[in-house]
Amino acid sequence: MSTRQDAAPFLRIEQGTKAYAGVNVLQDVDFDLRAGEVHALVGENGAGKSTLCKAIAGAIELSGGRYLVDGRPVRFARPGEALKAGISMVYQETSLVPTMTVAQNIELGHEKLITRFRSLNIKAQQLLQSLRFHVDPAVLVSALGTAQRQMVEIARAAHHKARAIIFDEPTASLTPEEKLNFFQLIRDLRGQGLGIIFISHALEEALELADRVTVLRDGRHVVTAAAAELTREQLVRHMVGREVEKTHYARGVHHAAGTRREKVLSVENLTMGNTVKNMSFTLYAGEVVGIAGLIGSGRTEAAKIVAGALKRNLIRGGSVFLRGRAVRYRVPKQAINDGIAYITEDRKLNGFFETMTVEENIYLGHLATRRGFRFLVSARDRRGVAGRFIERLQVRAASARAKIVELSGGNQQKVVVAKSLVQEPEVIFFDEPTRGVDVGAIPEIHQAIRRLAAEGKTVCVISSYLPEVLAVADRILVARQGRIAEEFSAQDATEDKIMFAAIH
Ligand SMILES: Nc1ncnc2c1ncn2[C@@H]1O[C@H](COP(=O)(O)OP(=O)(O)OP(=O)(O)O)[C@@H](O)[C@H]1O
Ligand SMILES: [Mg+2]
Repeated sequence: MSTRQDAAPFLRIEQGTKAYAGVNVLQDVDFDLRAGEVHALVGENGAGKSTLCKAIAGAIELSGGRYLVDGRPVRFARPGEALKAGISMVYQETSLVPTMTVAQNIELGHEKLITRFRSLNIKAQQLLQSLRFHVDPAVLVSALGTAQRQMVEIARAAHHKARAIIFDEPTASLTPEEKLNFFQLIRDLRGQGLGIIFISHALEEALELADRVTVLRDGRHVVTAAAAELTREQLVRHMVGREVEKTHYARGVHHAAGTRREKVLSVENLTMGNTVKNMSFTLYAGEVVGIAGLIGSGRTEAAKIVAGALKRNLIRGGSVFLRGRAVRYRVPKQAINDGIAYITEDRKLNGFFETMTVEENIYLGHLATRRGFRFLVSARDRRGVAGRFIERLQVRAASARAKIVELSGGNQQKVVVAKSLVQEPEVIFFDEPTRGVDVGAIPEIHQAIRRLAAEGKTVCVISSYLPEVLAVADRILVARQGRIAEEFSAQDATEDKIMFAAIH
């Protein structure tokens, strides 16, 4: 598959080590990148993938080892310096400036003293078009969704004429079509002789796209091999260091429709602008309902309306009934007080306070409830509450007092989940609950979701990943263009049927 397998690496890390507060999160890692190759980097949450790449991109400095570009040792103190050397990184957590336009963000770090708006927009438009991205260069980044922000990041890297581009989980929030375009883009860049580092938890994607794959585990280098010589099973074994059951997405024993209990939440003809159009569905206690569909099919928006985070149309916006009572929340707090939680897909924007500790974030979730507010608990109880959830979801952090920014991406996601579960909600919407979570930890989150239903809670999981929907849901709804187009029981559903309903 590779075009230049024999090219000598132009970028090399030797015995790379990084310590935070005396703990080595990278230890003696060897890594190199050739011109004209895609090099995938995989490993469990917290394995050190982002850290290694941040060191390569000059966002952090290694505490030990050597970093060579074209055979010469380099030290980049800032990302700007790496960028000048042609090394650019698209971050896992988007690093765009929300108050600037798309075009301004693409130009960022490259600005001339006077940049004329019009020509800037035209240039950005041409670039976006050449990448086949449908994003308006003149809008503010704050108005964009996750997938579109990702596109802007990619455009920015392409714009900076890099020799090496690092993509940290770039495809996690793209639609299938956008993903195909993105893969084509990566292949184009490779064809132009760029070296690409590609971090992903989607192992099939990594194997498909990459020429070589490197596996990290607990901050150490495990193996580097040609993608053609690796299977998914071998990769997983290298990642977790033990045999793993093949069927992570095995279907559990789920409820038959006949055993359904109380009708808890029903949504009737929910409508908001052009995104949600007469959407109707009903959720029962003790059941997990999955909502499949393409990104943009109105699932997230519907859940946010129910949870008070978005407003439906004032006239003919439809109704939401909680145990038969019509409800309309103006702010999420009112929904939380009624026991409804929405667990966000966009952790950086709505998930938590980055500079606070894991413990404080989980505790804040608790405080947001009526009960939590009434009983301001002591520091010891706070630790207890947080500790329970850290344990349950296996959040991997140096300690409960580690700051969120110090956690790996997947572990941040688990804190977002913990923060809502501590509120002991009765109705829970999970939006893409395992995005960025590694293959080993996904079953834990799925078990936590199933356990909630087993406790009698009402659970709804929005997911674009069909194996996930099939694994957790008793009943599967398919959203298409703002409404529910189809419904399947878990027994009847197949990936093909769901996909067909989502598209046609
Ligand atoms: N600024 C920091 N301070 C302290 N520890 C940190 C910091 N940044 C990262 N770490 C720790 O380094 C380890 C590796 O994190 P890293 O983000 O590289 O993982 P990752 O492989 O990218 O994981 P994920 O798949 O979840 O994104 C984690 O244990 C993390 O908690
Ligand atoms: Mg990461």
